[in-house]
Amino acid sequence: MATTSTATAPTVTYRRPSLYPKQQAAIFSADRYGIIEGSTKCGKTVACIAWILEQAMGGLRGQAFWWISPVYPQAKVAYRRLKRGLPETLYTANESELTITLVNGAILSFKSAEKPDNLYGEDVYAAVLDEATRMREQAWHAIRSTLTATRGPVRIIGNVKGRRNWAYALARRAEGGEPGWTYAKLTAADAIDAGIIASEEIDQAQRQLPESVFRELYFAEPSDDGGNPFGQEAIRACIGDVSGSPPVVYGVDLAKSIDWTVVVGLDETGAVCRFDRYQWPWEETVRRLAQEIGLTPAIVDSTGVGDPIVERLQRELSNVEGYHFSSPSKQRLMEGLAMAIQTGEVRYPQGVIVSELDAFAYEYTRTGVRYSAPEGMHDDCVMALALAVYGRTGAPGVGVW
Ligand SMILES: Nc1ncnc2c1ncn2[C@@H]1O[C@H](COP(=O)(O)OP(=O)(O)OP(=O)(O)O)[C@@H](O)[C@H]1O
Ligand SMILES: [Mg+2]
Repeated sequence: MATTSTATAPTVTYRRPSLYPKQQAAIFSADRYGIIEGSTKCGKTVACIAWILEQAMGGLRGQAFWWISPVYPQAKVAYRRLKRGLPETLYTANESELTITLVNGAILSFKSAEKPDNLYGEDVYAAVLDEATRMREQAWHAIRSTLTATRGPVRIIGNVKGRRNWAYALARRAEGGEPGWTYAKLTAADAIDAGIIASEEIDQAQRQLPESVFRELYFAEPSDDGGNPFGQEAIRACIGDVSGSPPVVYGVDLAKSIDWTVVVGLDETGAVCRFDRYQWPWEETVRRLAQEIGLTPAIVDSTGVGDPIVERLQRELSNVEGYHFSSPSKQRLMEGLAMAIQTGEVRYPQGVIVSELDAFAYEYTRTGVRYSAPEGMHDDCVMALALAVYGRTGAPGVGVW
């Protein structure tokens, strides 16, 4: 008598490790893309290991799921951590390749980001970039390409490490509401609340580490990188509500090819009372500017394509003055803004102005000091604010009129 054996897939009950609510919301959001800035030991890795495992459990035979760490030994640690949490009957592992194949045939691979070129080529169904701030941007580009055909989701996690890096720029865009993205921040305070770390531990770290390092590592607050011309504390000290008083001066930075036209109006105390940011065709821009500015003095960026715009405005409004950006004139303008911020002579609301001020940096180059926003970020709010501050204080001899 023949016996028939029916192969049935084993039924497995999976229980997600218990995550604290903020940790869960940050990593398990419904959005395809997630970027999480976290303090050290706040539970980033644990949550992402659970996330990638769940993605793979929902996958099919042969589908690839990737965990990327900055260097190979870190990838190996994550590989071991995941393996430790899985019953041996549910997977086969390959130590030399750092892969774990689940019973459903989905393959989890643990890789290093050291050679981004090696990350191209495969179709990946979900990926985690752990310690992303320690990876080169090319690694992210490579991973992004592997997720295109599959429309796979990704989680990018890491400590904050200054401002001049791709992960910081990406986090700011996500925080600003980029569609499809979740941004979250997990700090030591969250981890203490959740009972994962003891507050004494944090107090000790604060005593032992330089303040800027401590704030980055435990509170996910970027340090100045030594390159912010305004100073982090000074930037914070000038945050206030939008003023209801009328403007006495406007600063206008005109959109170039990819950025925004930004209009900042200051009242007589130096507080921002008007703030507008838009991308319109030139005709519309000129009309809106003329309407907004009216008879109030205004300093308008006249660099490049700004020149004819300023001329058009000046035909109607005698109170409009052009400001031409050159390396030295920009430097003087920024020094004026830095002075106003450090002496508390200006106030601005929380939001995009503050983000741009935070990210703004200077670099010493062979030809002098270069002021700019980091790659991938804008500086048009900073410029408009600086022009308004300059127009208000009217520092003599500054700028090219
Ligand atoms: N929700 C939680 N409940 C209990 N323990 C947790 C929780 N989340 C994380 N942990 C524990 O806290 C420790 C740190 O977690 P994890 O390694 O994920 O943090 P991390 O943010 O990745 O840290 P690192 O900065 O070292 O990369 C681990 O021992 C982990 O098991
Ligand atoms: Mg970690």
